[in-house]
Amino acid sequence: MNSREVEVQLALVILTMMILCLVPSSAKERLSHGETYRRNLLANGLGLTPPMGWSSWNHFHCNINETIIRETADALVSTGLSDLGYKYVNIDDCWADIHRDDKGRLVSKNSTFPSGIKALADYVHSKGLKLGIYGDAGYFTCSHMMPGSLGYEEKDAKTFAEWGIDYLKYDNCYNGGSKPTIRYKVMTRALMKTGRPIFFSLCEWGDMHPALWGNPVGNSWRTTGDIRDNWDNMISRADINEVFAEYARPGGWNDPDMLEIGNGGMTLDEYRVHLSIWAISKAPLLIGCDVRNISKDIMDIIANKEVIDVNQDNLGIQAKKVRWEGDPTIWAGPLSNMRVVLLLANTGPNHHSMTANWDDIGLPQETVVEVRDLWEHETLKQHFVNNLTAMVTRHGCKMYILTPVL
Ligand code: GLA
Repeated sequence: MNSREVEVQLALVILTMMILCLVPSSAKERLSHGETYRRNLLANGLGLTPPMGWSSWNHFHCNINETIIRETADALVSTGLSDLGYKYVNIDDCWADIHRDDKGRLVSKNSTFPSGIKALADYVHSKGLKLGIYGDAGYFTCSHMMPGSLGYEEKDAKTFAEWGIDYLKYDNCYNGGSKPTIRYKVMTRALMKTGRPIFFSLCEWGDMHPALWGNPVGNSWRTTGDIRDNWDNMISRADINEVFAEYARPGGWNDPDMLEIGNGGMTLDEYRVHLSIWAISKAPLLIGCDVRNISKDIMDIIANKEVIDVNQDNLGIQAKKVRWEGDPTIWAGPLSNMRVVLLLANTGPNHHSMTANWDDIGLPQETVVEVRDLWEHETLKQHFVNNLTAMVTRHGCKMYILTPVL
């Protein structure tokens, strides 16, 4: 090679490397398949299906104490919700004392958690459940003055592991302007070093698009700012989260925030849409209401096993919006055993007749399917071919599993 050719070769190598750096990680993995794909996951063996449980934040905010946590654990068991998979009992912000102890360790607030977190973990574990806790990748937690873990990652991870923590939600407040891509990894390593498998939930609100870098760092990553208990906010979380569908997979999930079902700000139809979209999006299903006092109507929604099974399907592929014509929105995604989940969601103020075409939802034309309605809990008498039409109420949905009839 003459020097000109060497220069050209070098330029090509540099260009290729630059392009590879720009290609999102999942695309790279599709190029190289198998092992790269596996090695790029956080190797703690957790979150092979989206996590399910409860979190204190959406209903209680800072008004939490150990009695609420214990009673919630009791209620998850007595209502049967834990048998359906709701296993994580997650204490969100405001459990910690504003001072670390004399060895620099985090301690719980004595006035509200007098028995300490270890005792709570023992209790929750004795009920067959898992305990989650909240920390922050900055100097303070978001509700302020409780200590964050920046600079204390190893110490705090060790404390969490010694307490028997199973899940860490790691927030992003008071971070001094440094990048989450740097700070979150430090906690990943600290957690790994403890030797205890702890589900690691990244909560940087989608600021630096964590779907693009979250897979080796955490088991889930918030793609959005905080959810509120109203229709428009809930739908907007779903829409933002949908964009990152390609990045979700067993071991690492997009997180559009916790469920608001049962907190009173939406109608039952709207809450059904909420659970349906979270289920097909393979989102964490973290109940956010007071499960100690839950109405039958709300229980019928969050305990819908057929919808939960879609979320927990071991194929782990996040559904996408496949047709969006104003208010009527059609979502679909593949499930195991050649099935397809279909959601006809009507986000508008009027009833709509909605049609899903097989072309849009990944079924070959002429495929004859059996249709299971997951909210009516019935298998439709008629088989369908090429398309399916249904009437959908305002702010309501129809959710179906289509199984090819062979
Ligand atoms: C942030 C998070 C919320 C919640 C609060 C607690 O806003 O995004 O989910 O944890 O902090 O202060």
